[in-house]
Amino acid sequence: MRPTLAVQLAVSLTLLIAVAEGVTAYVNVRTQERQLLRHMVLGADQLSRSITSATWHAMLADDRHSASEMMRTIATKQGVDWIRIFNKEGRIMFSTRPEAGRMVDKNAEACFVCHAREHPLVRVDVPSRARTFREANGGRRLGLITPIYNERACSTAACHAHDADVAVLGILDVGLDLASVDAELAAVKRRAAAVLLVEVGLVSALVVFFVRRFVHKPIRQLIEGTRAVSAMDLDQPIVISSSPEMVELARSFNVMRERLRLALAEINASKQLLETRVDERTAQLEAAQRKLIRSDRLASLGQLAASVAHEINNPLAGVLNLSMLMQRILTEEGVPPARLPEFRGYLAQVSSETARAGRIVTDLLAFSRRSTPRRGLEDLNALVRKTVALVDHKLKMLNVEVVCDLDLALPQVPCDPSQVQQVILNLVLNASEAIVHEGTVVVSTRAPRPGESVQLLVRDTGTGIAPEALPRIFDPFFTTKDEGKGVGLGLAVVYGIVQSHGGDIEVNSVPGKGTEFCVTLPLVLPAHAGPGADAAAAAVAGGAA
Ligand SMILES: Nc1ncnc2c1ncn2[C@@H]1O[C@H](COP(=O)(O)OP(=O)(O)O)[C@@H](O)[C@H]1O
Ligand SMILES: [Mg+2]
Repeated sequence: MRPTLAVQLAVSLTLLIAVAEGVTAYVNVRTQERQLLRHMVLGADQLSRSITSATWHAMLADDRHSASEMMRTIATKQGVDWIRIFNKEGRIMFSTRPEAGRMVDKNAEACFVCHAREHPLVRVDVPSRARTFREANGGRRLGLITPIYNERACSTAACHAHDADVAVLGILDVGLDLASVDAELAAVKRRAAAVLLVEVGLVSALVVFFVRRFVHKPIRQLIEGTRAVSAMDLDQPIVISSSPEMVELARSFNVMRERLRLALAEINASKQLLETRVDERTAQLEAAQRKLIRSDRLASLGQLAASVAHEINNPLAGVLNLSMLMQRILTEEGVPPARLPEFRGYLAQVSSETARAGRIVTDLLAFSRRSTPRRGLEDLNALVRKTVALVDHKLKMLNVEVVCDLDLALPQVPCDPSQVQQVILNLVLNASEAIVHEGTVVVSTRAPRPGESVQLLVRDTGTGIAPEALPRIFDPFFTTKDEGKGVGLGLAVVYGIVQSHGGDIEVNSVPGKGTEFCVTLPLVLPAHAGPGADAAAAAVAGGAA
C-alpha cells in the first residue's frame, strides 16, 4: 500500500529539515575546529617568539648551554612536545628530543613551504608555517617553524659573525600536542550531534502535528464526505476550517452535495409521480382490457348463437320425427311385439340426439358461464374439440372443412379453460372468415419443447394478411371486414389472454395462400403472468353471463 499524502509530506519535510540541520551542524563543527587550530597556531607562534626573545642574548653570546637549558625548561610546559633548531643546511643543531646532529629532509612538509622554489622564500605568513600531522602513537601534533633572521647584532657580533647578506640563519621548529584540541573537538561534535538529534526530533514532531492538523484531518474529512455521497448519504455537510483553500474546497463540495440532494429529491418526486401515473394508466388499461374481453365474448356468443341454434334444431327435428314414428307404431295394446326392435332403435336415436343437444348446450354454457377465474391443469386437446364442435355447423355452411391434428401425448397445460376456449374460437372463426369459397382450417397441437411449453396452431388456406395490415392486426378495433361483420376485437383479446398466461403468439401469413397463428403456452406459469391476468379472467366470466 502506498503511504498516505500526510505521511509522505511529514517524512519528506523531516528529511529535508534533518539534512539542512546536518549540514549546518557540520559547517559549525568545521568552523570551530578551524578556530581552535588557529588559536593553537597563534599560541605556537607566540611561543616561538618567546623562545627567540628569551634566548636572544644567549645566542648572541654563543652561550649554547644557557640557550638549550632555557629551551628545555620551556619544553617541559604542558602541551609543548618539542623545540628544535636547525641551520640553513638542515642539520639539527639543537632538539629537546634525542636527534641533534641529524639532517632534516628539505622536502619534508615543514621545509617545503619555503624551499618549494629555486630561491627559497624568506618571509612566510604564520598559517603557512604551521603543519599538523599524526604521530606513530596516534596523537595529533601541530608543528610551527619560525625562521631566525640575520640581524645587525648577529652580523657584527665578535664571536661567530654571520655574513650580512645572509637573510635566514636557521629555523626554530616548535611542536605542540593537539590532544586538548582533539578532546575539545570531540566534545563539540558530541554536543552538535545531541543538538541535531533534539532539533530534528522536535521539528519532526511539529511537522507531524501540523501535517495532521492542516493536511491529514481535512483530507480525511473530504474523503469521508465523498464516501458518504457515493453511498447516497447526502445529509452530512463537510466542516473544515484549516486553511482558506480547504475551506473553499469543502464549501464547493457542500454546494455540489446540496445540488445533488435537490436533484435526487426532484428525481424521486417525479419518479413517484410517474409511478402513480403508471399505476393509474395500468388500472385504466386493465379496465379497458376487461371491457374488450367482455365485448368480444358477447360478439362471439352472438356468432355462436346461429351455429348452436342449428346444432340444437337438428337433433330436435330428429327427435320430433322419431317421436311421430313411434306414435304411429304405438297401438292401444302397446307396441306390437314384431315392431319392438324398430321401436327400441328409434328410442335409442332419441336418447342419442337429445344427448347431443344436451352436450352442445353444456358446452355453450361452459363458454359463457359466469364462473370465478381459475387456473387449473387442462387438456388442451379436449378444449380444442369442444370449441370446434360449437362452430361445426357454421363452418360447414361456409364450406370450410375443419381438421384437428392433435398430439395425443400432449401434457396438461396450466390455464383458464374458458379463456383458452375464447382464443381457439377467435382464431378458428378468423380462419374460416378468411376463406372465400371453400378451404380447410387445420387446428393442431404439439409440444416441440417437452417439459417447457405447448403450442396451438391454427392454419387456414384463406386470403392471407396484407403486409401493411400485419403490424396492426392485434390492435383493438382494427378490422378489414365490412361493417357489421367485424369489430376488430378478436385478436386484441387473444393477445391479452395469451400474455396473461405468460405465453406468446406469432403469425405467419402469405397473401393469397393462407395464414398460420401459433400460440405458445408455458407449462410453468410465471409468478405474475402479465397484466390483469386474473382480472381479465374475472371480467370474461362476469361479462358473459
Ligand atoms: N386467419 C386470418 N386470415 C386473414 N386475415 C386475418 C386472419 N385473422 C385475422 N385477420 C385479419 O386481422 C383483422 C383483425 O382480426 P380480429 O381482431 O379478429 O377482428 P375482426 O375479425 O373483427 O376483423 C381481421 O380484420 C383480418 O383482416
Ligand atoms: Mg375476428
